[in-house]
Amino acid sequence: MGKYYITTPIYYPSDNLHIGHAYTTVVADALARYHRQIGDEVRFLTGTDEHGQKIQRRAEAAGISPQEYVDRIVANIRDLWLRFKISNDDFIRTTEARHEEAVQKIFERLYQQGDIYKSEYEGWYCTPCEAFWMERQLQEGNKCPDCGRDVELVKEESYFFKLSKYADRLMKYIDEHPEFIQPISRKNEMINNFLKPGLEDLCVSRTTFDWGIKVPFDPKHVVYVWLDALSNYITALGYPEETELFRKFWPAELHLVGKEIVRFHTIIWPIILMALDLPLPKQVFGHGWVVLEGGKMSKSKGNVIDPVILIEKYGLDAIRYYLLREIPFGADGFYSEEALISRINQDLANDLGNLLHRSLSMIEKFNGGVIPSPGSYQDLDRQLIKQAEESVAELRSAMEKLEVNQGLVAIFKVVSRANKYIDEAAPWALAKQPDQKERLGTVLYAMAETLRLAAALLEPFLVETPTKIREQLGIGSQESGMSYSESVKWGGLKPGVQTKKGLPIFPRIEEEKPAVESGAAKRPEPKKEEPKQAETKSEQISIEEFAKIDLRVAKVLAAEKVEGSDKLLKLRISIAGVERQIVAGIAQHYSDEQMVGKEIVVVANLKPAKLRGLLSEGMLLAASNDEGKLAVIRPETEIGEGAKVK
Ligand code: ME8
Ligand code: MG
Repeated sequence: MGKYYITTPIYYPSDNLHIGHAYTTVVADALARYHRQIGDEVRFLTGTDEHGQKIQRRAEAAGISPQEYVDRIVANIRDLWLRFKISNDDFIRTTEARHEEAVQKIFERLYQQGDIYKSEYEGWYCTPCEAFWMERQLQEGNKCPDCGRDVELVKEESYFFKLSKYADRLMKYIDEHPEFIQPISRKNEMINNFLKPGLEDLCVSRTTFDWGIKVPFDPKHVVYVWLDALSNYITALGYPEETELFRKFWPAELHLVGKEIVRFHTIIWPIILMALDLPLPKQVFGHGWVVLEGGKMSKSKGNVIDPVILIEKYGLDAIRYYLLREIPFGADGFYSEEALISRINQDLANDLGNLLHRSLSMIEKFNGGVIPSPGSYQDLDRQLIKQAEESVAELRSAMEKLEVNQGLVAIFKVVSRANKYIDEAAPWALAKQPDQKERLGTVLYAMAETLRLAAALLEPFLVETPTKIREQLGIGSQESGMSYSESVKWGGLKPGVQTKKGLPIFPRIEEEKPAVESGAAKRPEPKKEEPKQAETKSEQISIEEFAKIDLRVAKVLAAEKVEGSDKLLKLRISIAGVERQIVAGIAQHYSDEQMVGKEIVVVANLKPAKLRGLLSEGMLLAASNDEGKLAVIRPETEIGEGAKVK
C-alpha cells in the first residue's frame, strides 16, 4: 500500500463549464477512487485559479469587484463537482489566505536567492491564455500560437525568473525520467518546441493591473498568474510550512492536465520546484480534448455542452461512463449525443442492466429469490470464472497505465461473457428437470456472483450503480470489511441471501429521431409499379449483418386484444426465462386463444417501441402475401423458448 497524490488543474472561473472541462476531473476522480479502493492513501486536489487580467476585465465588464465575481462563479464550480460526485479531499482557491501568503513567501525566497530579478519586459501577452510570447513564436498577424487570438504588446517594469539557469538540469531530468511527461508525444513536443530552441527568463510580475497576489517587497507588482496558480499543488499541502500533509504527500504521483497546459506543467513548474529545492512530481499526463465537429469546445465558439443538463437528462453514471469509456485516453475524442445514447443502450442497458435484470428474474422464478449454493463447477462455469480473473488483471494493468477507457473495456468483457453464459447454461431448461437442481443452483450462483464482482470493479468509475446492483442482490449497499483483493476474488458472494429485484437500472433511451427536414419537398415520389420479380431482389447483406438480428423462439404465455384496435394483439411472451410484452398486428388473422401456448419466432433485440401507448419489446415474425393472407412463423417442432434462430 502506498500513497497517491493526484491533482487536476485549478480551473479558471468560467460561467459555463462544459462537458470537456468535466473530463479532466472525472478521469482524476476515477483514478483517485481506484487507488483508494486498492488501499492506497489518497489525496485528491482540485480548485480554482482566480487571479489575473482576464478575470479582472470580466469583473469590470460585469460591474462588480473581482472578488464578488469569482465568489459567485466558484460556487457554481463547486456545485458542478458535487453533482458529478467528485471525491476530492481538498479544494483550493488561489484567493484564499493560505495560498496567497505561501506564494508571497515563495516569491520572496526566489528573489532572495537571486533566481528572481527586476528588469523591464517588452513583448507580447495573450490575456485569454495568460501567456507571454516572443515575437518569433507568434502566428501570422500577431496571433497567439496556442489559441489563435490577438496578443497585446506590453512594456512594463517586471520581475523575471531565471528559467535559463535551470534549462540544462531540466533537460537532463526529462531524459533520465521517461515517465515524467506522458504520453510520449507530448514529451517530444516539449523538448523540440521549447527546450531545444532555448529557454528565456520568464516575466513573473505585472504592474498594469492589480487583481493578483502582491509582491511583498514591491506591492505595485502582482505575481504572474501561472507562478501563482502552479504553486497551488504545494500550498494546498501547507508549504512552505513543514506540515505532515506536505511531508506525506509531496511529490505528487500525478498532475493530470489537458494537453494545452502541459507546457506550463513540464517547464515552468519543474523549474520552480528545482529552485525551491523540492522533488518533482512523478508524472504529468496531458490528456486530449473532448471535441465537437468544428474543434475543441469553447464558449467563444458557441459549441458548449452543459454537463448539468446532460446529467439531468441521462443520469450521472451514464455521463461518467460515457466520458471514461468513449474518449481514448491521451487522444482527442468526439462528443456526440448519439454516441452517448448508443453507449447507454448497448453497454449499460443491454449488457449490464440486462444481466442484472434477467439474473434476478431467474433467481426469483427458479429459486424463490434466494441466492443458491453452488455445486461443483463445470467447464462452462470455469470459462466464466477465468474471464472474471482476466478482467481483474486487465483492469489493474490498464489503470496503472492510466487507460481508464481500457479499464472499462476489461470489466465489460466479464459482463458480456456472463450474458453468453446464461444463454449457454440455459437455467430455464435446467429448472424443468428435477434431477438438475444442483446444476441450476451453480448456474444461478455464478450469475449473481458475476454481478457482485462487476459492481466491485465498477466502483471507481460509476458512483450510483454499484450500490444499486448490491441492493438488488440483497447484499447491502457496501461490502463491509472486504479488502480489494478479497472483493474481486471469485466466490465472495454468500449463498442464502434474499435478493430484491428492482426496476431496470439503465432503461433504454429511445433515440429522438431528427425532425424531418422541410416536409413535403423531401417526400419521395410515389414509386412506379415494378415488375413482380424485383421484390425479391433486395440489397445483399453479410452474414455478420444478419447475425446482428437476435432471432429467438419465444413462448406465448398470454394474449389479449388491444382495446380500440381491430388489428393489434398484446402478447405476454417468455424468452429464456425472461418475460416481456410484444404488440403484434395479427388480430385479424389470429384470435387470442389461438396464440396462447404456442412457440413463435421474435426479433429479440429490436428497439422497444410504443404502439397505441403499449410497450412492445420485440417483434414476431409473420409472412404475408399480396392477397392479404398472413401466417405467423413457428418452429417446425417444439424446441423450447430461448432457442436461437439462425
Ligand atoms: O487551464 N476537453 O484552467 P481551465 C478536455 N487555470 N479537457 C478540457 C476541455 C475540453 N474540451 N476544455 C477544458 C486552466 N479542458 C488553468 C490551469 S493549473 C495550475 C492552472 C480542461 O479552466 C483543460 O484541459 O482553462 C484543463 O485540464 C481543465 O479543463 C481546466 O482548464
Ligand atoms: Mg483552458
